Amino acid sequence: MKAIVLCAGKGTRLRPLTHTTAKHLIPVANKPVLYYSLETIKKTGIHDVGLVVNPQNGPVFKEILGDGSEFGLNIQYIVQEQPKGLAHAVWVSKDFLGDDDFLMYLGDNMITEDLTPFVEEFKKESLDASILLTPVEDPRRFGVAVLEGSRIVKVVEKPKEPPSNLAIVGVYLFRNVIFEGIKNIKPSWRGELEITDAIGWLIENGYNVKGHVIYGWWKDTGKPEDLLEANRKILEAMKGSEILGKVDEASEIQGSVHIGEGTVIVNSMIRGPVVIGNNAVIRNSYIGPYTSVGDGVTIESCEVENSIIMEESVLMDVKTRIDSSIFGKKVKLVRSERKPRTIKLVVGDFSSLELL
Ligand code: G1P
Repeated sequence: MKAIVLCAGKGTRLRPLTHTTAKHLIPVANKPVLYYSLETIKKTGIHDVGLVVNPQNGPVFKEILGDGSEFGLNIQYIVQEQPKGLAHAVWVSKDFLGDDDFLMYLGDNMITEDLTPFVEEFKKESLDASILLTPVEDPRRFGVAVLEGSRIVKVVEKPKEPPSNLAIVGVYLFRNVIFEGIKNIKPSWRGELEITDAIGWLIENGYNVKGHVIYGWWKDTGKPEDLLEANRKILEAMKGSEILGKVDEASEIQGSVHIGEGTVIVNSMIRGPVVIGNNAVIRNSYIGPYTSVGDGVTIESCEVENSIIMEESVLMDVKTRIDSSIFGKKVKLVRSERKPRTIKLVVGDFSSLELL
């Protein structure tokens, strides 16, 4: 069995972060979202992974993941030239997949569930497709499935009136026959070839499509608040503390805190769960729960909590507590004593700021 991981999406709701980083590479607890997906896939025993990328972001993935050997995977790259939908992404993966059964994983999904039972069940029973489902409060934002027993009898994409509360998570198992389904569908109202429609074709033509319901935590990290929630979830599950850097005597560490090599903590309070990368400097500051601080970040005389601060950013002398915020790489936020007392900003396209 092979896997394809879909990473061609543009991540428009995460601008400006996605102007420079693919959304799948944005760090959660100092690790790119995609790494969690790759770890989950690896655990199922699958080694051959095709990463579906777009022409712009492809080189970045290649540079970071290479041939996948560092992750114990064999990664190949498949370029989806145009964003024509999830079913189209499967179609362009045809040569890579050959006749193999395959797992399809939307690369910006984060789940805590072990997928081994899902994969094993598919192998044991003679299924044509198996779709991971989970109950949600607002199914209108998702593909929705209707079950009879464990068999899916209907699927509908983003229904105005959902026929059930079971959302399609974004993890699918297919036999090669899905290509027949893709051949027989037309673009949807949003101009995309929907994988949901191809699954619908399988159902209508009598193929055996199973729904595998999970009840654990799951997040589609498409929006800033989703990233912060994922960050909280991962940090919450972090066990114990690991302090490789230096913490001076005037500082206090509470709860589960991970501090990387070369990092210095001076006269500060770090209240976990918190992860701080390598070579960061935290001085005269408070770093509160659910905060991830990347490599080379400097934080001086600030209070930060429930936030993601990426590599080499600098936060200095900010008098208000920074909460529920995401800072990209090399961002600078400083207090100026110069007169007149104005706010001076250089803010990129699609940035979002909330001031007092
Ligand atoms: C896609 C699928 C949808 C699924 C969702 C999960 O939607 O089309 O069926 O429920 O992913 O995140 P999209 O994110 O493309 O709107």
